[in-house]
Amino acid sequence: MTAPILELKHLTRHFGGIRAVDDVSLQLFPGEIVGLIGPNGAGKTTLVNLISGFLQASSGQVIFNGEDITRVKPQRIARKGIARTFQIVQPFAQMTVLENVMAAAMFAGGSGLKESRERAIAHLEFTHLADMKDRPASELALANRKRLELAKSLAMNPRILMLDEVNAGLNTSEIEDALTMIRRIADTGISIVVIEHLMRVVASLAQRVVVLHRGAILSQGSTQDVFADQNVIEAYLGTRFAQKASAQSMG
Ligand SMILES: Nc1ncnc2c1ncn2[C@@H]1O[C@H](COP(=O)(O)OP(=O)(O)OP(=O)(O)O)[C@@H](O)[C@H]1O
Ligand SMILES: [Mg+2]
Repeated sequence: MTAPILELKHLTRHFGGIRAVDDVSLQLFPGEIVGLIGPNGAGKTTLVNLISGFLQASSGQVIFNGEDITRVKPQRIARKGIARTFQIVQPFAQMTVLENVMAAAMFAGGSGLKESRERAIAHLEFTHLADMKDRPASELALANRKRLELAKSLAMNPRILMLDEVNAGLNTSEIEDALTMIRRIADTGISIVVIEHLMRVVASLAQRVVVLHRGAILSQGSTQDVFADQNVIEAYLGTRFAQKASAQSMG
């Protein structure tokens, strides 16, 4: 059996009285796409912040590739190979698109200016941003800002990529485009965690779904099983929505 690339053990974080993440234990395997879903305030972004080191755990452990990284600083975690996009995208606005991706490539380390530039351009081609490489990032429309987030994350050379609502606000063809990219990234062996409120996107992408509710895992398993789980329907999906989504995942 393959070893997990990421393992969460009883991970917990509270803010005052709120248990934003409550005793979450979970494994992620190489090249797998896992959907992380749940109602607003369920703790999805907090979980990503804990894994990437942006927030300290109150208790529990984050194990990456066999190493305990629970108390490691975010910059070091990023360099180790855990990348994440932000729910609210925040490029360096004054820098060009290319400079943004180069900065990420240089931050990841191990390459000089020339090689970083070459790698950055390859990522911009992959994310269909090559034509815009010399524009200031501030000029990009939403879909392209999201693509830039993806290009920057890839420039970090990740083993794990956590995507926090990368499809929010995009139109149907932009979403299709993003899904193709995400699948191709997973095909290279990178493990992907997709946080998503669009159930058809989850159904089409994820091999496995984890449902958070009030910080805890309410359900996990195949898309089909999770969408049919009565607890998930009551807490999140609503009956009508779930029928639609599970019909799609089976069709
Ligand atoms: N820095 C913080 N300080 C205090 N409370 C916080 C902080 N970050 C998150 N919370 C609280 O933790 C809980 C989980 O929030 P989180 O942002 O992780 O939810 P989410 O699942 O990402 O929601 P959404 O789908 O709306 O993005 C919420 O009750 C939220 O108000
Ligand atoms: Mg969130």
